[in-house]
Amino acid sequence: MQMYSEPLNDDIFVDFIHSVYVETDRDSLKGEALELTDSRETVYNSNRGYQSTSYHRGTPNASEDGLESIERVVESCYEYASVFLEKKFSASIHKMSWWLNVNRNGEFNVPHNHGRCDLMGLYYISAPPQSGRLVLERNDGSSYSSLYDNEPGGRHIEIDPVEGRLYLIPGHLWHWVENNLSSDPRISIAINIYLHE
Ligand SMILES: [Fe+2]
Repeated sequence: MQMYSEPLNDDIFVDFIHSVYVETDRDSLKGEALELTDSRETVYNSNRGYQSTSYHRGTPNASEDGLESIERVVESCYEYASVFLEKKFSASIHKMSWWLNVNRNGEFNVPHNHGRCDLMGLYYISAPPQSGRLVLERNDGSSYSSLYDNEPGGRHIEIDPVEGRLYLIPGHLWHWVENNLSSDPRISIAINIYLHE
């Protein structure tokens, strides 16, 4: 009979998703976001819905576009992310950019990543039922093997976003957004955080 003893196991190279509720008046945010879709043209990246131009912290263009309430919640997200990064990674933010996503019925985002962004933030202004889950895809070498085939969440993770919550996710992860099957828009703020130039 084979004898086994003292097995040791560590999970290595784990990733995370961190989420927190950010108290704010979401009706104002929704109003500002929808108004922007009328006054400013979309940009085209991974979106098959509306995506605003990128705004940068400390520049006046977001206020000029009537996004005062949105700017305030972005600032709250920035403050929370600063404390999170300091506590978890002993890191501080070098710069940040953000934009708005509005997916109406039938709209979605194709698989993409955010380049060399270090930490992604996603704040959900509006996420009605059936408006599309956020899907995160594992993108290391395990993508080419079968080891995690039978492990729930081993390949990709679907997140049903909750309105009013900020999600912080490692910037290197590939992700996409499912088709919005709701008649109401799905509205989020995406934030790119960089620790270096
Ligand atoms: Fe994205």
